[in-house]
Amino acid sequence: SEGTTHRRLPSRHRFVADLSQCLFDFVIQLLPTQDEMQVKEDVRKLLERLIRTIEPDSRLLSFGSTANGFSLRNSDMDLCCLIDSDERLSATDLVVMLGDLLERETKFHVKPLPHARIPIVKLSLDPSPGLPLGIACDIGFENRLALENTRLLMCYAMIDPTRVRTMVLFLKVWSKRRKINSPYKGTLSSYGYVLLVIYFLVHVKNPPVLPNLQQMPPLRPITKEDTHLAGYNTWFFDDIELLRTRWHSENNESVAELLIDFFRYYARDFSYNTGVASIRAGLLKKSSKGWQNDLSASRYHDSRERNRLCIEDPFELDFNVGRCVTKDGIYTIRGEFMRASRILSNRPERAVVALTELCT
Ligand code: CTP
Ligand code: MG
Repeated sequence: SEGTTHRRLPSRHRFVADLSQCLFDFVIQLLPTQDEMQVKEDVRKLLERLIRTIEPDSRLLSFGSTANGFSLRNSDMDLCCLIDSDERLSATDLVVMLGDLLERETKFHVKPLPHARIPIVKLSLDPSPGLPLGIACDIGFENRLALENTRLLMCYAMIDPTRVRTMVLFLKVWSKRRKINSPYKGTLSSYGYVLLVIYFLVHVKNPPVLPNLQQMPPLRPITKEDTHLAGYNTWFFDDIELLRTRWHSENNESVAELLIDFFRYYARDFSYNTGVASIRAGLLKKSSKGWQNDLSASRYHDSRERNRLCIEDPFELDFNVGRCVTKDGIYTIRGEFMRASRILSNRPERAVVALTELCT
């Protein structure tokens, strides 16, 4: 075999096994350290104590990647303040007051955004010897839906930690390195990518890798009061220990096989023009949700831009998580899916070469 001039592709079997191993190794070194997690928890406690001097009945909870098992080293901290009293200040007032307080009492750089669509306080700490990369954190108020969707993602991660977390973490790094993870610049949020992965594992893979937690039969009767939040149904099957004894995936594909298929699906097969990815209900039609983006249906540039990529939020069904993605954005994202798909189908001699090329 050494004598031929043609480079021989390694067998698919060997490439896939190597690639899976490389993905694990790659992702493990990007996980936050125990130290980092401790520092973040200390910061949360400190901020909670300070907020309680303004609102004694408040709690400060973390959501997003620090709470759902999809955290990378040095990722931002998303915090949500809940106030368990009926007479509370408005989010706008709280943001102003908390901004002042933190400015006086802490070393954080503080940026209150009281008039944003969702009022928040942005905080950051400069790097220091104990915290070589600094820390960045957003504090919002009463965002109970975000706490619930964080819990949903965490439950999905717990069902099959190895495959789900490895895929998600790799895709997060990949999308950041390829610069397609900036909702403010017309591409997709991390939350959006996670939903694309779950949609793929629940609805595209056959047999599925994950069950649909929002459609499983409940263990006991549920009432509207304990499942609805702000008018949205947030119920899902969350007894993961029990689920492990009752549900077992028939799908035995490796992480590498799933990743290769993921890229191919979003490069070629997903119907961007008419489809909506819904982890709750599978593939839906844009027309059935009123999310068309054809020129005749909506005269305004703005609403047309809004529905290029449609991903239904698991609870806020009228919210398109991909609404920030512009025409250029979707073109770039799809181009990246195609590029990734092509690199992996070339099967270089060493899988690590493919991974490096993917991310640079
Ligand atoms: N979120 C949301 N709706 C969005 C975007 C985000 O409800 N359109 C909430 C979700 O609860 C999500 C959290 O905000 O888990 C954080 O979103 P994001 O920063 O995109 O995801 P992370 O997993 O925190 O990723 P990163 O590490 O890149 O910050
Ligand atoms: Mg985050």
